[in-house]
Amino acid sequence: MKTKIELLKDKIAQANAAGGPARVESQHKKGKLTARERLHFLMDEGTFEEIGMLVTHRSTDFGMEKEKYYGDGVVSGYGQINGRLTYVFSQDFTVFGGSLSETHAEKICKIMDMAMKNGAPLIGLNDSGGARIQEGVVSLGGYADIFYKNVQASGVIPQLSAIMGPCAGGAVYSPAITDFILMVENTSYMFVTGPNVVKTVTHENVTSEELGGASTHAEKSGVTHFACANEIEAINHLKKLLSYMPQNCEEIPSNLHYTAAEEIRPELNDLLPENANQPYDVRTIIAAITDEASFLEVHQAYAENIVVGFARLAGRSIGVVANQPAYLAGVLDNHASTKAARFVRFCDCFNIPLLVLEDVPGFLPGTDQEWNGIITNGAKLLYAFSEATVPRITVITRKAYGGAYDVMNSKHIGADMNYAWPTAEIAVMGAKGAAEIIFKREISTAEDPEQKWLEKEKLYADIFANPYRAAERGFVDEVIEPAQTRKKLIKAFQMLENKVVNTPRKKHGNIPL
Ligand code: HXC
Repeated sequence: MKTKIELLKDKIAQANAAGGPARVESQHKKGKLTARERLHFLMDEGTFEEIGMLVTHRSTDFGMEKEKYYGDGVVSGYGQINGRLTYVFSQDFTVFGGSLSETHAEKICKIMDMAMKNGAPLIGLNDSGGARIQEGVVSLGGYADIFYKNVQASGVIPQLSAIMGPCAGGAVYSPAITDFILMVENTSYMFVTGPNVVKTVTHENVTSEELGGASTHAEKSGVTHFACANEIEAINHLKKLLSYMPQNCEEIPSNLHYTAAEEIRPELNDLLPENANQPYDVRTIIAAITDEASFLEVHQAYAENIVVGFARLAGRSIGVVANQPAYLAGVLDNHASTKAARFVRFCDCFNIPLLVLEDVPGFLPGTDQEWNGIITNGAKLLYAFSEATVPRITVITRKAYGGAYDVMNSKHIGADMNYAWPTAEIAVMGAKGAAEIIFKREISTAEDPEQKWLEKEKLYADIFANPYRAAERGFVDEVIEPAQTRKKLIKAFQMLENKVVNTPRKKHGNIPL
């Protein structure tokens, strides 16, 4: 028995040694942690249980049978994060560059299956040179197996991907299918084709960081939802992100304990600028409405004209979608529409109620927008809100103009409650533009056209630049003093807690992609 235990211990030690001290050192020199160190920081202490530690590859080409490492480049298993069961895999760059072999893929698939069967989130820590080149098609097959399971799991369990190193070629498509991607500045990159191929095909000179680093994907492409300064920050973000989510689509997120306090927020009465055309940062309104320091912004640096993220309201997890007047006056454009649509769909998948703060002058005009599909992209947001069955509440703080009024979670497309502040302006367009169109003849034939225009602008504004026409119709349920907003929202979300919506039977809808 003793020698057998010694043998087991020896094998475990070999697995823990990964690709050996030189490769571990090289990993550290790059400012990166090893696969096991990452798990140490991610999982609650002592809770991680490894599955498949002694798996090795089956490859025999190119002398591979002589080079085997226990674990085969990925550490996988389950454990707890803040007391909640979570499945995880962590690619080990010190073993064949974390490249994906047939067996490496099988290990990932195994824990994906377990996460699905047991209804718990899946986290992937990616650090890989891509397909194991020595294995050819079986490696490609392994990737496809993972992609397929990612799709099966989509909307069933939360799937989070942290990119901690290279993630190139087709490998990018697993994280891309998952719900959230986090990247680390300067040590991670994602691209379908790397700088060398880019240079050959398009003659562009570009570095890996420029082409697919964290900032690039956080600001330009929107591929990553978070760009983190270092790996520890990324790991802490993963934990925080998970805290707003339930274990699976059958559950609701757990409420944090909250002691009811005075919920009136007088500062909300003074947050809007005097002039309705002046910008302000909607984050100040979010902070004043939601529980203290509870807002976790998603996609912060991408499509900044709309702000999305998770927060808590009296301890309850909610998703917030807010037009951002501080950036492009808060217009809806292509990127803002797709950003918000994806977020809305995530919240709906996982029973996270939605709060919409609306101050939107409309859709952004121009050839750039039209040629890049604002019709299709705007429709995505409209579709996403319309199909969402979670509790949905809108607060119109200022402008709700044109098609954007309909799209931004209006009552007409299924919002449960719609509040407006007395400063709300709900109209087809701004009074100036409206007067110019409907009083064109009167203005052009007037003795003083400028004066006439102002007169007609005022007339239009008096009728529509307020929330009362909409309130008379019931399109707005209540016009409220801003200071009352938090109190009203807490009560309304409580009232909607057991909301049930029966949707028509269908295979699935056809969101305009
Ligand atoms: C096997 C690999 C490997 C791979 C790296 N290694 N990538 N082994 N298959 N794909 C090994 C190296 O041989 C080396 O082994 C160790 O990992 C570290 O690699 P280095 O090159 O020394 O590290 P570094 O300088 O940091 O460069 C990292 C790298 C580079 C940029 C990722 O290794 C690289 O370009 N690798 C190939 C990437 C690639 O083309 N992959 C296929 C993409 S296509 P030793 O023994 O020296 O430690 C793809 C298709 C997926 O993935 C399709 C899905 C549908």
